[in-house]
Amino acid sequence: MKQLILAAAAAIAVAGCHSAPQTPSNANGESAQTTSARSSPSGTSFGGYPDQVSWGKHLVQMSGCGDCHTPKVMSPMGPVPDTTMYLAGHPSQIPPPRINRAEIEKQGLMLTNDLTVWIGPWGISYAANLTPDETGIGGWTEAQFIRAIREGKWKGMENSRSLLPPMSFVAASLNQVANDEELKAIFAYLKTIKPVHNLVPGPEAPLHQAQHAHSAAQF
Ligand code: HEC
Repeated sequence: MKQLILAAAAAIAVAGCHSAPQTPSNANGESAQTTSARSSPSGTSFGGYPDQVSWGKHLVQMSGCGDCHTPKVMSPMGPVPDTTMYLAGHPSQIPPPRINRAEIEKQGLMLTNDLTVWIGPWGISYAANLTPDETGIGGWTEAQFIRAIREGKWKGMENSRSLLPPMSFVAASLNQVANDEELKAIFAYLKTIKPVHNLVPGPEAPLHQAQHAHSAAQF
């Protein structure tokens, strides 16, 4: 967590993460979108995959959810996904990097080398735990997951806060390309992965807001 990658890298990461979920051509050579658009609510078609969970796995891998939600470990070639923490979010025991936050929040954005911590004008956001543990999406319903993505709401609850960047961008991109059956398949897959107990820290407000709140409290 000592190295930091600057804004340019962040832009590349986000661009890379935003590839639309796609499904392979089926036996007739029909395109993915055509196939998935035809998915019936009864679940008889899974974008060319034999079942909903394997379709969801494919969509998660294609969309690069793990790029941000899986912490990394260092290798001679740089950071690689920590397979013991697959989609488990920012590790609770790792504090945010010690940097000049005020400068970063003013100038652009910065992310840590494992892409689980993002700092920008919105403050600090930490990649969430997407595993089916109680500290992740274990207690979520399918409807909550769909609302989280469709409405960009934290924990998919109606009156909760809006999701912060970069997830707000990811959700907006997903909403342009993913239908409900695809979101349901993603959720069904997430429910099958290994639960990891990891309570991700809540986001932090930008410094200028925190300072306003502090000076307001003094008067
Ligand atoms: C570019 C990095 C990035 C990518 C790619 C990404 N996420 Fe996220 N995600 C985050 C961050 C950071 C948060 C925390 C946002 C917050 O606290 O508001 C988050 C939050 C979430 C949440 C809300 C969790 C909660 O507790 O409310 C869900 C659901 C989610 N992501 C699902 C996904 C899925 C599914 C994918 C792949 C399709 C994905 N994310 C791809 C960075 C990313």
